[in-house]
Amino acid sequence: MLLIILLTFTHICHSATINSDNHHFLKLPLLHINPLQSPSQAFSSDSARLSALLSTLHRKPNLPVTSGAYAGAGQYFVTLHLGTPPQKLLLIADTGSDLIWVTCSACRDDCNRTRPPHSAFLARHSSSYCLHHCYDPACKLVPHPRPRIACNHTRLHSPCRYEYSYADGSITNGFFAKETTSFNSSTGELLQHDSLAFGCGFTISGPSVSGPSFNGAQGVMGLGRGTISFVTQLGRRFGNKFSYCLRDYTIAPPPTSYLLIGTAAGNSRMRYTPLQTNPLSSPFYYIGIENVYVDNMKLRVSPSVWNIDKMGNGGTIVDSGTTLTFLPDTAYRHVVAAFRRRVKLPTPAGSPPNFDLCINVSGIPRLSLPKLSFKLVGNSVFTPPVGNYFIDTAEDVKCLALQPVTSAGGFSVIGNLMQQGFLFDFDIGRSRLGFSRSGCSIG
Ligand SMILES: *[C@@H]1O[C@H](CO)[C@@H](O)[C@H](O)[C@H]1NC(C)=O
Ligand SMILES: *[C@@H]1O[C@H](CO)[C@@H](O)[C@H](O)[C@H]1NC(C)=O
Ligand SMILES: *[C@@H]1O[C@H](CO)[C@@H](O)[C@H](O)[C@H]1NC(C)=O
Ligand SMILES: *[C@@H]1O[C@H](CO)[C@@H](O)[C@H](O)[C@H]1NC(C)=O
Repeated sequence: MLLIILLTFTHICHSATINSDNHHFLKLPLLHINPLQSPSQAFSSDSARLSALLSTLHRKPNLPVTSGAYAGAGQYFVTLHLGTPPQKLLLIADTGSDLIWVTCSACRDDCNRTRPPHSAFLARHSSSYCLHHCYDPACKLVPHPRPRIACNHTRLHSPCRYEYSYADGSITNGFFAKETTSFNSSTGELLQHDSLAFGCGFTISGPSVSGPSFNGAQGVMGLGRGTISFVTQLGRRFGNKFSYCLRDYTIAPPPTSYLLIGTAAGNSRMRYTPLQTNPLSSPFYYIGIENVYVDNMKLRVSPSVWNIDKMGNGGTIVDSGTTLTFLPDTAYRHVVAAFRRRVKLPTPAGSPPNFDLCINVSGIPRLSLPKLSFKLVGNSVFTPPVGNYFIDTAEDVKCLALQPVTSAGGFSVIGNLMQQGFLFDFDIGRSRLGFSRSGCSIG
């Protein structure tokens, strides 16, 4: 506690300038790390992969408190260089939340003795670190801990405190601060952004932001639609858009995925669907599903099951931070039934309990599984490859990797497994999401 108080004596921020350079974009490698193994061994065994996937099942969607992020297993990580001189931090890339936050330490001297190197941002080792004052308009952008401490605007050292909660009850709490962040631009130039607002977290608790599922990360890079997200803050400089392509991490060695902030190379095969808005101004990227098809046969699911209602319930989000795909219960049951009718393969002994449809593919020379496709608003069709929804859970065993949304007020999620192999273009300025099966080899 003493250390926290001492840290508040760091200076309060002055306003900074933002330059515009639209001709650049940032290309940040996305790393995939299996929490159960070292990266080099990632998913070398099927059972490890299954455990990682099953551990994500507990992060089922629910309406979030301030965010719907489900940090943890099955995640993609991104490196952020923060401070002067830059400190390298590993963050979870999450399109389902807004706040950028890092684990902070007030340590000044001999920091290696008190905690492992690179396990936290050492605020006192940066000359550009500064705190937002509680009276600063920026402080209104973050949720505050309760009970809220009254802000005395004549007192110099009254830092802005934040408390950000995730859907599973995990919390990060600390000071809302500002820092310089550095990047290598697409042209290899060193770029600096001198006013990145972020949470300097001192109290971090809950399953999704601590412990093994957080996997050594030092925080979360929120890529949501809100004002404080990484893409919104840097958007003014980089054309208000970002894109990524998640490559299949079961391939050994796994190919590198990239997060591109700003305008990337155009792609004529890109299909677009408008981003929908939720009346609750949620951080999520909602898209509209109209119908689901199995082998080009439209399922008899009322289109209304996909709607966002007036209370902000329902709808479908595209989320990099959730592994599996969740569909409304009625749609899910129709999809499973349609697959069951078409797939006449034996049920394996000891099927994983979390999946409704598993098959024994032993001795099948040329396996052909039904095609799943989603007709989206804007007349585009998303047809993922079979490997995005039938996953190997054990040798010769494949399971349909879909889950039903059962909670009232829940929403559907296109998870990161379903997104693999597509370039997704989050065009926030034009309020649309593009996707394409070509373009993953950018860079
Ligand atoms: C802390 O540890 C790192 C890595 O082990 C080392 O590079 C660095 O010099 C150490 N810093 C101090 C102040 O001892
Ligand atoms: C606000 O801070 C000033 C300076 O520290 C102090 O004089 C004043 O009493 C404080 N006001 C309140 C309402 O606490
Ligand atoms: C930029 O690239 C160089 C060489 O690859 C690397 O050493 C450096 O850490 C990078 N800096 C940032 C801010 O990413
Ligand atoms: C799958 O089928 C093969 C051949 O019938 C059988 O030997 C094997 O035990 C089955 N595997 C499972 C997990 O049921």
